[in-house]
Amino acid sequence: MLLGFNIDHIAVLREARRVNSPDVLEAAFLSANFCEQITLHIREDRRHTQEDDLENLVKFCKVPINLECSSDETMIKIALKHKPDRVTLVPEKREELTTEGGLNLDNDRLKKSIEALQNENIEVSLFINPTPKDVERSKELGADFIELHTGHFANLYNALFSNISKTPYKVLEMDKKTLELSLKEELAKLEFCAKKGANLNLKVAAGHGLDYKNTKEILFIKEICELNIGQSIVARAVFVGLERALLEMRTLLNEFSR
Ligand code: PXP
Repeated sequence: MLLGFNIDHIAVLREARRVNSPDVLEAAFLSANFCEQITLHIREDRRHTQEDDLENLVKFCKVPINLECSSDETMIKIALKHKPDRVTLVPEKREELTTEGGLNLDNDRLKKSIEALQNENIEVSLFINPTPKDVERSKELGADFIELHTGHFANLYNALFSNISKTPYKVLEMDKKTLELSLKEELAKLEFCAKKGANLNLKVAAGHGLDYKNTKEILFIKEICELNIGQSIVARAVFVGLERALLEMRTLLNEFSR
């Protein structure tokens, strides 16, 4: 299983003080020993990573760079200028805390954006909800990769098995039985869509909300070749340091992957 380390949360800390600490590039150099890809999301409001980060990562980082961004014209121009190895198109709402759902694939601009990126040899991935219709549509649109949104799976898992109930936010309000059933259904959906994607010759990644517990549950899906994980690794790094946090995730992926 390939690991894409989503570096945004390093930039979140830096932006809290608008100084160059922690240094995103330094974090990327260190991470490159434990992962196969660095992922960054340049959001329209630039709340964490910036265009400079992309420029430096593409220039100096020894593992491939995966830029997540919206299909907005300005963002596509930035991608075409810096030419990361891959662009993952994601939906974006300014008011959201994080990317809350998959892309709306009926957006007319998507096909044009995909072609423009591929013409510059940039691989294109679409961050989608795990539905068969969206997998098929991604193929029609000419994507190289799909990334299945695991956010709902993660929320269900965490509501059942972690301390998420201790947050002041309402995440999911379901009784235990409904949670168990919904979790099973969500895993089945992820598996079905991963297989469907692979059958259509799409490369299949997954990500969002994955951590040191729930990740094990999706590693049985052998069609998923890559996971993009950020927040949980940086959260763990606060206690054990970034190298150890990455090593623990790497070890988990090696141990439980099919
Ligand atoms: N993949 C995509 C497409 C994302 O938008 C994000 C969050 O930016 C991630 C993976 C990583 O999610 P998390 O930080 O919850 O691990």
